[in-house]
Amino acid sequence: MRWWPALQTLFKRPTPAFRLMNGADAAQAASLHSASFARGWTEVELSRLITDPNVEANALVSQHTLAAFILSRIAADEAEVLTIAVDPAWRKQGLGRQLLANHLARLAGRRVMALFLEVEDENKAARTLYARSGFEQVGERQAYYARPDGTRGHALVLRRPID
Ligand SMILES: CC(C)(COP(=O)(O)OP(=O)(O)OC[C@H]1O[C@@H](n2cnc3c(N)ncnc32)[C@H](O)[C@@H]1OP(=O)(O)O)[C@@H](O)C(=O)NCCC(=O)NCCS
Repeated sequence: MRWWPALQTLFKRPTPAFRLMNGADAAQAASLHSASFARGWTEVELSRLITDPNVEANALVSQHTLAAFILSRIAADEAEVLTIAVDPAWRKQGLGRQLLANHLARLAGRRVMALFLEVEDENKAARTLYARSGFEQVGERQAYYARPDGTRGHALVLRRPID
């Protein structure tokens, strides 16, 4: 069937490209964040963070649509991931790893020596992503996350040196 490859080409989404975020991304970031976390952040909250000069805000964008984004706050020569989310339609295709790799390069350019983050111990997707990206556990916070069902989840504190 000759029409099938043609149809596939027609509907193939272009590979998302890396770029820095700006305030105009806040609305899309809010909807992607809500699709990814039990407590979504508002457009106003995200706009404040994205435009904060101490926050490194990076995205992967396909056809003017955010496929993934990450925000980290920088303090002296360390940074902490505030959030990272990949659009559910784009997950498990290597975007998380690609975004994190680009983000680490940006932080290196800003003379950051180490990146920290917190992850719920039961978040298998995120834990795999971070393990593959060179993060190691340096701490644990018991009953740190409030889950929608009223139970609490443990947080693991991870660190990755940046050279
Ligand atoms: C966590 C998240 C960012 C991963 O993004 P992604 O683009 O799907 O990740 P990648 O495709 O780059 O996968 C990275 C690694 O994790 C693995 N992985 C991804 N999703 C997985 C899942 N659901 N279960 C197990 N492993 C998974 C991949 O196989 C890959 O490992 P590999 O290199 O050995 O193949 C994405 O699932 C997400 O947005 N989740 C909701 C928000 C969230 O939890 N953010 C993290 C908060 S700490």
